[in-house]
Amino acid sequence: MRIVVLVSGTGSNLQAVLDAVAAGSLDVDIAAVGADRHGTGGVQRAADAGCETFVVNFRDYADRAEWNRALAARVASYQPDLVLSSGFMRIVDADFIDAFAGRYLNTHPALLPSFPGAHGVRDALAYGVKVTGCTVHWADAGVDTGPIIAQAAVEVRDGDTEESLHERIKVQERRLLLQTLAAFAADGVPSP
Ligand code: GRF
Repeated sequence: MRIVVLVSGTGSNLQAVLDAVAAGSLDVDIAAVGADRHGTGGVQRAADAGCETFVVNFRDYADRAEWNRALAARVASYQPDLVLSSGFMRIVDADFIDAFAGRYLNTHPALLPSFPGAHGVRDALAYGVKVTGCTVHWADAGVDTGPIIAQAAVEVRDGDTEESLHERIKVQERRLLLQTLAAFAADGVPSP
């Protein structure tokens, strides 16, 4: 299974995938790791692991549509079976989704459909929920919408900060992500 991974941030979830591939416990071929901006920790981690990397820098394009076209073309050039949004913080348009229909996977640090968006952990904490968690789902053109594949619950503790809660969520997020990728690698990418 060939995958392209898209990142915007530090890439700790990506690192879990890189480590599992290096350890031989996950049978996927990481065709490339790409970012929407220069200087991400995720691209650095990929380069350190010897992966092909690319940047389709959002700021280099006149508008979102042009950037989307460039991103879709670059991702398509690797002919992936699956595209993984791993902390990729840009919404892609319907053309991108159509190009990778049923092959664009996202993870989110909350129990969707609750707390979508860029601040899922902060919003859950601010609301005062006692249980939150993470979701692995097919991405569509909405913000953290699309069919849910797997979820895990994480208890909110007294005194939790956004950082402490997010770290515990990420432990579960990485576990679910690896479990999902391993199932797809073994059985093929299912239809959403
Ligand atoms: C993950 O919790 C992801 O769901 C969210 O941002 C985090 C990515 O962290 N959108 P990292 O870049 O993998 O460290």
